[in-house]
Amino acid sequence: MRSILFVCLGNICRSPTAEGLMRNHLAAAGLADRIRVDSAGTGGWHTGDPPDRRAIAAARKHGVDLSQLRARQVRKTDFSDFDLIVGMDLQNVADLRRIAPKESTARIGLWLEEALGLAREVPDPYYEDNRAFDAVFDLCDRAARAFVEKLSA
Ligand code: 4NP
Repeated sequence: MRSILFVCLGNICRSPTAEGLMRNHLAAAGLADRIRVDSAGTGGWHTGDPPDRRAIAAARKHGVDLSQLRARQVRKTDFSDFDLIVGMDLQNVADLRRIAPKESTARIGLWLEEALGLAREVPDPYYEDNRAFDAVFDLCDRAARAFVEKLSA
């Protein structure tokens, strides 16, 4: 596994949180040069936007800086550029499978299942309060830690 793409709906809440955490945990494990990390949305409404300020604030409390990330939409070449593409929820995974080109080489999976073996989603916090953003951060933190541990083993 040399590259991973995190995908949610808007690419401004969950997948940038997962990307930022993954970068931090990879760097802490000395693996930052080995694994390429990016994130994208199945939708394109927020293309070019920084993450939601609530996602930035939740991450900043734990020393993770998301402010430089910018949203983009999933593109066809992602399916050959990345080894692993993980959706935050089951709708994301279904959308990824639907838009994957025939020549796709990436493995597509559910993030918490890939990282923690849990058939569980990272719920969409967009219409929720700050606690939902803290919950997204905590879930993605546990997942990224476990994933990096597996990579280091
Ligand atoms: P995300 O959250 O998929 O975690 O980035 C959302 C962001 C924006 C919208 C929905 C979910 N939206 O409808 O604009």
